[in-house]
Amino acid sequence: MKLMVTGGAGFIGSAFVRMARRRRPADQVINVDVLTYAGNLESLRELERDPGHVFVRADIRDRQAMDGLLRQHQIDAIVNFAAESHVDRSIESAAPFLDTNVGGTLTLLEAARATGSVRFLQVSTDEVYGSLGPTGAFEETTPLAPRSPYSASKAAADCFAMAFHHTHGLDVVIARCSNNYGPYQFPEKLIPLMILNALEGRPLPVYGDGQQVRDWIHVDDQCEAIDRVLLGGRSGNVYNVGAGNERSNLDVVRAILALTGRDEGLIRHVPDRPGHDRRYATNAGKIRGELGWLPQHDFGQGLADTVQWYRDNAGWAGRVRSGAYRDYYERQYAQRLGPTGQP
Ligand code: NAD
Ligand code: DAU
Repeated sequence: MKLMVTGGAGFIGSAFVRMARRRRPADQVINVDVLTYAGNLESLRELERDPGHVFVRADIRDRQAMDGLLRQHQIDAIVNFAAESHVDRSIESAAPFLDTNVGGTLTLLEAARATGSVRFLQVSTDEVYGSLGPTGAFEETTPLAPRSPYSASKAAADCFAMAFHHTHGLDVVIARCSNNYGPYQFPEKLIPLMILNALEGRPLPVYGDGQQVRDWIHVDDQCEAIDRVLLGGRSGNVYNVGAGNERSNLDVVRAILALTGRDEGLIRHVPDRPGHDRRYATNAGKIRGELGWLPQHDFGQGLADTVQWYRDNAGWAGRVRSGAYRDYYERQYAQRLGPTGQP
């Protein structure tokens, strides 16, 4: 199989590419990433000499480039991870989310359609369903009700993908995924941000009361699920992916403090994220039943391993927290935390 993976230098995409290369050495992966602030070739270092991995720096919004790559490499399937992925950044400025998540996905869909025979896996999110009350879980049939500019852009992309299936017969599958954690995650997201702050003894900014709930999944379980959808998902179907591992943000932060040997005095309750979704929970019964997927990672162990990874890879973390990251941190947290040390 010749696979085009977009966004394969990002957190989940790079984990997927590493897994695909280990698992199917005879296949070829064309990894297409424009390398925004979130893309990092260091995450692909183990593939540097792998002839089955071809990295191409290109933008999914560039139709000519996408047509050329699909033709040149005779691609069988596209896994579209490429996106602007951080909710807080979408609150600062929504336009890049419209451009890449909607415009980029549409460009890829058009390019795929022109080939006539490509499977298109859209990597989506449980956030397209909106926010839950204290009970229940998102089903694949739950109506779309996105509430942040990020989730609005992901919902629009899902709608375009399904429209191309129904209108043009494109072979589309969608995986709607819950919150991922694990190595190589960019430290703007809750878990790596809190791990690095805790390791460095800096304050941990918890939005609002910290009782918001997320359904955490280890990135390797996520990649296994995506692979199963790629190989066995029924065309035109959506598959929810979640590990049934609901935790409040405050519980996650406390677990990180315990693993790093820090005191809870580092916790700062700061002004909340506007429009903050209260609770996500995902019913993954469909992918379990149809494709035999089961998450393998225990959250306690996975979190401990992740903390250890950030301890062991201080160089990686230092390099990704470049000047641009410092500017972002300043914009996002300076007012919330008051005078505090930069990372
Ligand atoms: P990430 O921000 O770590 O990586 C995104 C990658 O896409 C980066 O390498 C970036 O350079 C690349 N990219 C951005 N714009 C591009 C463009 N125009 N052309 C080519 N490449 C571009 O994101 P992630 O956390 O790995 O998420 C990957 C996908 O999974 C996204 O589609 C996201 O919406 C979805 N998702 C993420 C999570 C999560 O918990 N992280 C959960 C559910 C769904
Ligand atoms: O649910 C899937 C989604 O999970 C993905 O589609 C997104 O790409 C991914 O970023 C993630 O979105 P969240 O908004 O849930 O993740 P984030 O890590 O930004 O925040 C997790 C929770 O922690 C959320 O309730 C906000 C809170 N939070 C986050 C940060 C960065 C804080 O309390 N403080 C923080 O500093």
